[in-house]
Amino acid sequence: MRRNISTLIAIVFATAFLLHFCSALKEGQTCAADKNCDSGLHCETCISNGNVRPRCTRIKPINPTSQVKGLPFNRYSWLTTHNSFAKLGDKSATGSIILAPTNQQDSITSQLNNGVRGLMLDMYDFQNEIWLCHSFGGQCYNYTAFQPAINVLKEIQTFLEANPTEIVTIIIEDYVTSPKGLTKVFDAAGLRKYWFPLSRMPKNGGDWPTVDDMIQKNQRLVVFTSKASKEASEGIAYEWRYVVENQYGNGGMKAGKCPNRSESAALNTKSRSLVLVNYFRDVPDLAQACKDNSAPLLNMVNTCYEAAGKRWPNFIAVDFYKRSDGGGAPEATDVVNGHLVCGCGNIANCKANTSYGVCDIPEAGVAPGTKGVANEIGSAHGLRTPFPFLWLLGTLLMTILL
Ligand SMILES: *[C@@H]1O[C@H](CO)[C@@H](O)[C@H](O)[C@H]1NC(C)=O
Ligand SMILES: *[C@@H]1O[C@H](CO)[C@@H](O)[C@H](O)[C@H]1NC(C)=O
Ligand SMILES: *[C@@H]1O[C@H](CO)[C@@H](O)[C@H](O)[C@H]1NC(C)=O
Repeated sequence: MRRNISTLIAIVFATAFLLHFCSALKEGQTCAADKNCDSGLHCETCISNGNVRPRCTRIKPINPTSQVKGLPFNRYSWLTTHNSFAKLGDKSATGSIILAPTNQQDSITSQLNNGVRGLMLDMYDFQNEIWLCHSFGGQCYNYTAFQPAINVLKEIQTFLEANPTEIVTIIIEDYVTSPKGLTKVFDAAGLRKYWFPLSRMPKNGGDWPTVDDMIQKNQRLVVFTSKASKEASEGIAYEWRYVVENQYGNGGMKAGKCPNRSESAALNTKSRSLVLVNYFRDVPDLAQACKDNSAPLLNMVNTCYEAAGKRWPNFIAVDFYKRSDGGGAPEATDVVNGHLVCGCGNIANCKANTSYGVCDIPEAGVAPGTKGVANEIGSAHGLRTPFPFLWLLGTLLMTILL
């Protein structure tokens, strides 16, 4: 018995040692730390889906414009974070502890660097500034206030400055009533020069300008507000004139259904050129998010495609976007971009410079909910090491013992 235990401990240490010096593992392969995984991946389990083996999972979509450039903005899908600002573990900039739900694990800068291109921000008047906040009864409190919006808008400004071919969309849940409050904070953050003008947004279901054109004119920041009056008063697009959305929260997570959210026109309203799919719970749940963001998200994307009159979502909005059991929200974005830009089941299968519908591998259908399993099997074969089962065993033991 004692010998068995020492053997086990030896295996554990051998495994830890091997993994310590190992990097560049692929999606689905067993890992011990983020640094073991290829770029665009991190190392995690998904207990809620029964995956106790730590594996490399996706945190980054393929750049939507990397395969086919020059299409209208509404011919791409952008990974979007719900309550992008509500970061797990953050303290309020007022000094208070936060007693509000948190929806994401990393900063806006980190999200942007991981390929997030849609940011949902709740903005309030608070302490004579505009703050990113949650509310009780429409009121922002110290213990629900994350930070002044200017901080995060400056992060976005820095990103746009450093990445001259990237386009970012901000969707504001707008509680700001101070005169020109939003205009002032966007100007102060240096974001005016990237502003995509209202006058260029299609009002009747037409195509948006192409991404090339937006880049060339440096109109790379698209902003929507939930307040209708601000379109006239501040030139900020009223979201519901341009976008349809499904129900958010638990009401939007019933398999096979994709109802509109109350503010939105019906999903199949073609006079709105952009489609946004929400897929997150009423109460954010870090543990369940990896499951939600996996096969159920892909299924909902397919359901909403039908509900939207066979239109793929331009924005896929989730909580804890980094969490999945394999491909997650980044993969859902890749799948949709495959359909949108080249008519293939995944943007990874698009072939450069060939006509629409010519793919690297045959399209496997629009509900690849089993991909996680396929990857897992594939990766066991893909491990270029004689010890895959040793690794698996060792990592499992580490998980149990530590
Ligand atoms: C809220 O935080 C500010 C500092 O930002 C502080 O001056 C104020 O007293 C706090 N209010 C309450 C009710 O704690
Ligand atoms: C959108 O959904 C709400 C229910 O949340 C409903 O009252 C409204 O009529 C719907 N709008 C359309 C156009 O279906
Ligand atoms: C595709 O076409 C563009 C311009 O027409 C060219 O620059 C690029 O090298 C081509 N790519 C491939 C893979 O053939």
